[in-house]
Amino acid sequence: MTSEPIVAALDIGTAYTTALVAAVHGDVPRAPRLKVLGVGHTRTMGLRRGMVSDIEEATRSIRAAVEEATHLAGVAADGLFVGIAGEHVRAMTSSGVVAISGHEITRPDVERVNEVARAMAIPQDRELLHAIPQEYRVDKVDGIRDPVGMIGTRLETEMYLVTIGSSPAMNLRKAIERAGYRTRELVLEPLASALAVLTEEEKELGVVLVELGAGTTDLAVFHEGKIRHLGTIPFGGNTVTSDLVQGLGITQHDAEQIKDAYGCAYEPLIDPQQVIAMPASGAHGERHISRELMTHIIHQRMDEIFEKAQREVHQAGFTGRLNGGVVLTGGGASLEGIRELAADVFGLGVRIGVPGAKLDGLVENVTQPQFATAVGLALYGAHREALGGVVARKGGRPGASVDKLASRVKTWLQDFF
Ligand SMILES: Nc1ncnc2c1ncn2[C@@H]1O[C@H](COP(=O)(O)OP(=O)(O)OP(=O)(O)O)[C@@H](O)[C@H]1O
Ligand SMILES: [Mg+2]
Repeated sequence: MTSEPIVAALDIGTAYTTALVAAVHGDVPRAPRLKVLGVGHTRTMGLRRGMVSDIEEATRSIRAAVEEATHLAGVAADGLFVGIAGEHVRAMTSSGVVAISGHEITRPDVERVNEVARAMAIPQDRELLHAIPQEYRVDKVDGIRDPVGMIGTRLETEMYLVTIGSSPAMNLRKAIERAGYRTRELVLEPLASALAVLTEEEKELGVVLVELGAGTTDLAVFHEGKIRHLGTIPFGGNTVTSDLVQGLGITQHDAEQIKDAYGCAYEPLIDPQQVIAMPASGAHGERHISRELMTHIIHQRMDEIFEKAQREVHQAGFTGRLNGGVVLTGGGASLEGIRELAADVFGLGVRIGVPGAKLDGLVENVTQPQFATAVGLALYGAHREALGGVVARKGGRPGASVDKLASRVKTWLQDFF
């Protein structure tokens, strides 16, 4: 057994639930690495477009995935780092100003200004999920990453605030509790995926992460190292499956099967003569499906999804500013031809985001784009755990450690999204 801290992550997607148990090691707390000990992957029941729609069913999916992961890992999962997403997510920027009275700017000054920016009135039916300081301005100088030690009279900050609907969050926590686990923290899914697959250089140059899930397609735009825009498009892999059901006259089950096995999102890549033999089932004998028709259907829908994503990036003001290109994650990123189609629509370089950096252990179990969220949640947890360890080792009065943890954590969020 290991004495390294253990983190457990849970990504409850519309189609699949993934649990991941890992040990934290490496250069703690600066650059922790994850040793993957166990992964659980199961079909999700009881979710619609990323939100819990049936608590009983969601509870069962959670239990199945976490039990599989902890069984494989041979360790128990205590608190879980859990992903949340959906159309209820909102983001906004908020600013704060404080006066500095003729001394060098200190860490407490920075925390003070962050508090001011963070203290936005949040409506009753919403919760604040993340408050991410973006940059500071000292008197007339802006674009400052860390103002500590600078001289000035006026310190200003821009904060990126992410809020979520209270009821989707409560239903999620409730399902986890019923499954017998504790929610350690909720984390926005596309931000978790970004932690797992984006490089610092991409975030600096400007990059859009497009997560092709089953229920939704989520976007996260980074520029000059910081998260700048989040968006959700209410279409995903399930929409493509429904299109195939309609267009090919086959069952949902068959549509999903042939999509995952033979799906292609880019018509120029396929041989128009090719047919796919579908095994006889129920009332039907063996059937042949034109791969050209199938590809046409997928291409049309994915093209529409990317068009919407691109429009959103444009409206957010990032057209022409994404020199880091496009990174695709989620199950849909495994579709043949998806990179080619995205490159056509965005007119940018596109790569598939596969987790792997900062990982050891059962790495091959998670090196697919659909595991980006779960890996990112665990990496997030590793940083939290690493910071917690530092505070705990420093000891002192319990109150003091909590304060220190709180301030370290704020610093950390600033460094990571
Ligand atoms: N090899 C593949 N080819 C095509 N599609 C695939 C492949 N593997 C998975 N998918 C599709 O990806 C989707 C599942 O992706 P993912 O696991 O990222 O979604 P999710 O996290 O459950 O959903 P969401 O994030 O929207 O709540 C399904 O629609 C599935 O059909
Ligand atoms: Mg997902």
